[in-house]
Amino acid sequence: MTILDLLNQSANRLSEAGVADPRREAASLLAFALDKAPAFLIAHPEYELTDDEAARFDGLMARRANREPFQYITEQQEFYGLDFEVTPDVLIPRPETEILVEEAIRELNKLNELNTLRELTVCEIGVGSGCITVSILQNVPAATAIATDISEKAIGVAMRNATSHRIADRLTFIEGDLFAGVTEKFDMIVSNPPYIPDADLTDMQKEVRDFEPHSALFAGADGLDIIRRIVNEAPEHLNRGGLLLIEIGFGQSKVLGDLVDPSIWSKPEFLPDLQSIDRVLKVRLR
Ligand SMILES: C[S@@+](CC[C@H](N)C(=O)[O-])C[C@H]1O[C@@H](n2cnc3c(N)ncnc32)[C@H](O)[C@@H]1O
Repeated sequence: MTILDLLNQSANRLSEAGVADPRREAASLLAFALDKAPAFLIAHPEYELTDDEAARFDGLMARRANREPFQYITEQQEFYGLDFEVTPDVLIPRPETEILVEEAIRELNKLNELNTLRELTVCEIGVGSGCITVSILQNVPAATAIATDISEKAIGVAMRNATSHRIADRLTFIEGDLFAGVTEKFDMIVSNPPYIPDADLTDMQKEVRDFEPHSALFAGADGLDIIRRIVNEAPEHLNRGGLLLIEIGFGQSKVLGDLVDPSIWSKPEFLPDLQSIDRVLKVRLR
């Protein structure tokens, strides 16, 4: 079968399976199956797939039609200009998380300008694929980090990403619950913790609900179980004037604004995402 025929057929199959943007997805998957740039499909619509290529594409297409996320099929996701390995043991990095990363890098660079001789220290809670800390360390050579996760398998993925991006010598991993085993104090704590209310499970896209790790997504009735604990425990692990940056969910800023104790923290700031949703809580230890 030719590329053109196959694209039409697969786009229909994905559309019937309920995949959003089926034509683009079919094209991306075909380019991946053929190990070619997407432009190859446009330049060679008449190309006939070999039997091996057709079988490989069919296998990948069956997975996507079952609504397995594209990124788990290709085992790759781009984040902050870097390629990350992803497996079903980790959350697929989301573009909105780049807001937190950008702010962390900006603040660390400011600190670095004040004292270029000092090592900057960062702690991440819930490292997952490593996308946050690896991106920060890549962009701030004076920084070192400790990253924790409750999932041993997630830490394995993050380790591989740290190695492939050549920052592993500045990153230490601890497997455990939040700050368990962390004895140091840091200039900055960052986290994109689970923050989805448990009851939202039923309304979620199949790709997320059936394939992404629930321990990376859900955090109690209002989604704030883990964030509350991080806000309570973070002061013990921050230097004076240290920053806490936490990604938060839709509609959570109001409750969090009231939760932050003004005798411990500066007035909370909320950084918006592109849809003007408050996406990152930023507070400084007094
Ligand atoms: C939303 S994912 C974020 C992953 C990655 N940092 C990112 O931004 O893509 C949350 C991560 O927190 C981890 N996690 C959940 N509960 C935890 C806990 N009590 N202590 C440490 N890590 C936890 C999960 O295993 C998951 O890897």
